[in-house]
Amino acid sequence: MGIWSKKSIAQLQSEEGQGHALHRTLTGLHLILLGVGAIIGAGIFVVTGTAAAQHAGPAILLSFILAGVGCLFAGLCYAEFAAMIPVAGSAYTYGYATLGELVAWLIGWDLMLEYLFASSTVAVGWSGYFTAFLRDYLHLRIPPELASAPFDIQPGSHIPHATGAIINLPAALLVAVITGLLVVGIRESARINNIIVFLKVGVVLLVVVFGAFYVDPSNWKPFIPENTGTFGQFGWSGILSGAGVIFFAYIGFDAVSTAAQETRNPQKDLPVGILGSLAVCTVLYMLMALVMTGLAPYTTLNVPEPVYVAISRGGPALSWLGPIVSIGAIAGLASVVLVMLMGQPRIFYAMARDGLLPHFFGRVHPRFHTPYVSTLITGVVAMAVAGLFPIGLLGELVSIGTLFAFVVVCAGILVLRYRRPELPRPFRTPFVPLVPVLGILTCGILMLGLGVATWVRLGAWMALGLVIYFGYGRKHSRAGHGDTSPTEPPPPELGGPL
Ligand code: ALA
Repeated sequence: MGIWSKKSIAQLQSEEGQGHALHRTLTGLHLILLGVGAIIGAGIFVVTGTAAAQHAGPAILLSFILAGVGCLFAGLCYAEFAAMIPVAGSAYTYGYATLGELVAWLIGWDLMLEYLFASSTVAVGWSGYFTAFLRDYLHLRIPPELASAPFDIQPGSHIPHATGAIINLPAALLVAVITGLLVVGIRESARINNIIVFLKVGVVLLVVVFGAFYVDPSNWKPFIPENTGTFGQFGWSGILSGAGVIFFAYIGFDAVSTAAQETRNPQKDLPVGILGSLAVCTVLYMLMALVMTGLAPYTTLNVPEPVYVAISRGGPALSWLGPIVSIGAIAGLASVVLVMLMGQPRIFYAMARDGLLPHFFGRVHPRFHTPYVSTLITGVVAMAVAGLFPIGLLGELVSIGTLFAFVVVCAGILVLRYRRPELPRPFRTPFVPLVPVLGILTCGILMLGLGVATWVRLGAWMALGLVIYFGYGRKHSRAGHGDTSPTEPPPPELGGPL
């Protein structure tokens, strides 16, 4: 028992059974839209540019393929878990079922990097496009000191340098507004989310289709720029580092699994949602990477709004695309912040229900029926992070944290197939053990591409998590005290259906 105590699948499913009064409204198509809404964001609109300029050059295309393959393997494993244990909490819950409480806690803690920190990262990306839009179309200038992080760090370095800025105010304000909306509960978000998803995909397709006519193939030469002598700066190691960095662009498809409780037929719809959204995004990303590096020399893309810079290279013939890209990025990135900020309180809720976090994290607002305490805590932290940290540092931290969670999910599939082969599995990961093993290897290699400094930051974050677990969670956990009775079902409107 203790740190290895597990929740049985039956217990998890019975907790789920009590929750059948939930609004089960989402279908496979809704989930694909939800997934694409969570996936396409600052990764393609911002990080692609920095990753091409600093790591891979035009070969960022290969980085996208490598990262996409890692996500495919992990996605197949996520789908088996999500269909078998369709309850809130995602990888945290799967960890509790397979690898025990300590590992579950560590994944839950690690998932904060994926949801909370990712919302800050995307808010910083949003700020770049928003500031450029105000400047170029409304002639309003936000002083640079109020629109970027007060410090920056070169890739691979530990030593920050001051930028002269004070705070990234637009990024912090965006998080504040979205947090407010989530506290009062935004029910109509499904329709708005769908509109924004079509807008985002539409913008990407417009850039790809019209940008393709103005590509200058000489920008693709050399396709793999020569390595500078430092690991991760161009050459093959650059492709690997680039893959680790732009892995960020794929994060979100697993957010589909956090909507398990609102899905009409989770057994069928979750795999469709996870794999479908991943497939759509991989194709769009590869096309977008080709066109962006074909329109502009990769060295010019290290800016806060690289898609915008790339199309302006296409000359006056593409200038009509400028405002469309800006508006698509502004609306699209805001929707990613919303999905991420919505995912985090659900994980906090699951952890509080298990006693690993104080009970107030699960408190639901009497009038709005939203998990307002955890939403507010998430919002305040995300706001501070968005206002103070640079996008490069945040993106890499989010990538490594999420990759770590994926490795554990793949390992969990292996463990559960071995320990509980008889459990009904509505969706079976194909070619086990090959696929989970390849998932562990690919995600592990992508983690290696992220460099020592990012590993140190991940280590520090996880060490803090351990301190909190042994200081609090271990003493208060329900399972650790032998309490295996089903917990209260989640309130029907936790977070509101998407
Ligand atoms: N994949 C999400 C994005 O790129 C997190 O913004």
